[in-house]
Amino acid sequence: MAIRLGDEAPDFTAESTKGTINLHEYLGGSWGLLFSHPADFTPVCTTELGAFARRKAEFDRRGVKLIGLSVDPLDSHEKWIQDIEETQGAAPDYPIIADADHRVAELYDMIHPNELATLTVRTVFVIGPDKLVKLSLTYPASTGRSVDEILRVLDSLQLTADYSVSTPVEWHDGDDVIIGGAISDDEAKERFPKGFTTIKPYLRVTPQPNR
Ligand code: BEZ
Repeated sequence: MAIRLGDEAPDFTAESTKGTINLHEYLGGSWGLLFSHPADFTPVCTTELGAFARRKAEFDRRGVKLIGLSVDPLDSHEKWIQDIEETQGAAPDYPIIADADHRVAELYDMIHPNELATLTVRTVFVIGPDKLVKLSLTYPASTGRSVDEILRVLDSLQLTADYSVSTPVEWHDGDDVIIGGAISDDEAKERFPKGFTTIKPYLRVTPQPNR
């Protein structure tokens, strides 16, 4: 069955470019980003894994551990990493799971046969410190992901985990946020000392509270 938001991220132990890892132990109390790609030595995947490698510090700063995955074997990942470094300017310094028997891919429903018969599509799962799935995204093989968008959504997930707010369309870190509907105006005055603007009774905005 498909994994839904709020489900516990299924645990697994698997071989990776950083040795054998157990997902839940590896994450500990951190956020995690588990993402699959269709295949090693393919063009879009090479650019994606290179971009995650170049921008790993931005994930580190947010306390997010990266984990890649495809159904290629470990020796293929290890050879491909050299190409990624050569062509993209950085080698992935995060584990890439070698899921040749499709065990993890099936656990996470990463193979969509009507898109690719036996390969993983481009999935993204954000896992919270409580091991629950906070976000899932699925892209076809033909479309590379946006690291900017993934970082943007991580900023929203982490902010809204800590404060009773939500983030509007096109929100970026530093922009105003929306006050949760369950909070009364009196409570909002206490919780959001920078003040708030009532555009409609159901649409109240306040400066980002952790800034
Ligand atoms: C790519 O990364 O370019 C790719 C991988 C699998 C199928 C099609 C494209």
